[in-house]
Amino acid sequence: MKPFLPFLTVGLFFLGACGLEKPPASLEFPEAKTDAAPVAAPAAAPVAEPVKEEAPADPKLAAGKTIYDTNCAACHDAGMMGAPKPGDKAAWSARIAQGVEVMAKKSIDGFTGKAGMMPAKGGNASLTDEEVTNAVAFMADKSK
Ligand code: HEC
Repeated sequence: MKPFLPFLTVGLFFLGACGLEKPPASLEFPEAKTDAAPVAAPAAAPVAEPVKEEAPADPKLAAGKTIYDTNCAACHDAGMMGAPKPGDKAAWSARIAQGVEVMAKKSIDGFTGKAGMMPAKGGNASLTDEEVTNAVAFMADKSK
């Protein structure tokens, strides 16, 4: 039995290596993945790409999108009460020209403009200033 041991070991190694060549297979065999992690790491990286539709790459914009979807979209997606829709360049160009800081401050404090009334923090006082700012940055980025 002893003389076969090296062959067995080598054989197992190759078996493990083969399994990792197919990216989906490496996800199904977590033990095989950890065995050969240093070898597989560069090849496995592209598999981890997020599949979410149009999630912004910038983490602040991504966080802003989440805040926007849950707190701001109700008015802004529908253009309710004159709320500017993200992506509507005409409605945003003059607003963006003020700078994100100014827009964020107005959104945090609330303001009444020509189009209508924007409630402080979109009406959700539990949002932090940073969360509102990220949401504003996300809206502005979509409307450039
Ligand atoms: C109740 C409806 C409503 C909600 C909810 C709401 N907004 Fe607004 N928002 C408005 C309206 C209306 C305006 C347009 C005001 C104007 O210019 O006359 C506006 C304008 C804005 C502007 C433009 C500011 C500027 O300087 O021109 C920003 C930025 C903004 N909102 C961000 C947000 C963010 C971020 C949220 C969520 C945290 C949010 N809004 C939630 C109604 C809303």
